[in-house]
Amino acid sequence: MAEQARVIRFGIIGCGLMGREFASAVARWCHLVEPAAQVRLVAICNRSDKPFGWFTSNFPSITQVTHNYREVLANPDVDAVYVALPHDLHEQVYGDAIRAGKHLMGEKPFGIDLQANEAILAAMVEHPDVFVRCVSQFPFFPAVQRIGRMIEAGAFGRIIEVRSAFLHSSDLDPNKPINWKRQQAHCGAYGVMGDLGMHACHVPLRAGWKPRNVRAILSDIMPQRPDGRGAMVPCDTWDNATLLVECDDPAAGSRFPWILRTHRIAPGEKNTWSIEIDGTAASVRFSTRDPKRLELLTYKPGGEQVWQAVQCGYETAWPTITGPIFEFGFTDAILQMWAAYVHELVKGPPASRFAGCATAQEANVSHRLFTAALRSAAEGATVEISA
Ligand SMILES: NC(=O)c1ccc[n+]([C@@H]2O[C@H](COP(=O)([O-])OP(=O)(O)OC[C@H]3O[C@@H](n4cnc5c(N)ncnc54)[C@H](O)[C@@H]3O)[C@@H](O)[C@H]2O)c1
Repeated sequence: MAEQARVIRFGIIGCGLMGREFASAVARWCHLVEPAAQVRLVAICNRSDKPFGWFTSNFPSITQVTHNYREVLANPDVDAVYVALPHDLHEQVYGDAIRAGKHLMGEKPFGIDLQANEAILAAMVEHPDVFVRCVSQFPFFPAVQRIGRMIEAGAFGRIIEVRSAFLHSSDLDPNKPINWKRQQAHCGAYGVMGDLGMHACHVPLRAGWKPRNVRAILSDIMPQRPDGRGAMVPCDTWDNATLLVECDDPAAGSRFPWILRTHRIAPGEKNTWSIEIDGTAASVRFSTRDPKRLELLTYKPGGEQVWQAVQCGYETAWPTITGPIFEFGFTDAILQMWAAYVHELVKGPPASRFAGCATAQEANVSHRLFTAALRSAAEGATVEISA
């Protein structure tokens, strides 16, 4: 149906921070050159009325405004939904969306825990015609796309070590009031891993590397926070997680360490996503701290080991009107990810492996990793990651 109409009609369930980001990407769809389909925002759902005014005043295409997500799922004019809700609601709402036959883009962590994640995957098995992907936008930065092409081409040689991280710092402020992302009941036992982890997993998992076991150190640095009304309340989530993962590279038949850091309290780091890969033939470093800069070292036996800094402009997986010398940022990565989602929904897999969105199966591997990490931290032991 979507293929014929060439317009995908979207509903948003959860009109907070990320719901607005998607709406803004819809408004900027003209930025894309020959997208696989047009998109239209037709329905919004949120618990409170607060965000509705912004949406309805900016999107005259919205014909349904509701507090009840089931009404969006029952709306025959909605082809696909973007669900951006607290983690405790993922299992129910993602499952209901799939069962209602709505294509789904679900936010990470894609279920509050492994059990919730597997319930969503079970719904997908029962409804194979529904197209489902998980949000993860950072691999769409042009430098990361370039790293992805290097991985596809086997340019790294044997992998020596991989380091990926997603770091925040605003929680360093002890006066920052609590919100649902710092409360286990809404965010989950994973804590920071549930919030930031899938982002740091996406490239290694898309590369096809298989995590085998994990040693984890989890830190609860701020055990309480202000409630915003004058009292202190428990902040019962892990602030920082440092994972040492033993990984297989099936393509090379080798094994390497992957150091994965998701920190909410990383002094000075605003929203820093990074990937570093050391290989016998090439090594790379990229961080959103310096989003144009890709550091690259290529090596031939006996040759010099020289780090180069390559300037990556607006060289995107999905073509846009922006010239290739210009700068790329967070909202551009969101738009690229949505271009990928719509392409995959309408036309199938993209030409390049890293030009596609994270899958529910990749989210499932991240859940198995984080579940093992919780046990590792509790037991002070190396824990196998379940297959
Ligand atoms: N991709 C990213 O970079 C990124 C960044 C931040 C958050 N996230 C993820 O996005 C999701 C949402 O996070 P957010 O930052 O947008 O949160 P948010 O708190 O800003 O927004 C959540 C919205 O859901 C609404 N809501 C809560 N319960 C509801 C219900 N039962 N029915 C309808 N609406 C309800 C709230 O009123 C709120 O407007 C989470 O899964 C989070 O992990 C992703």
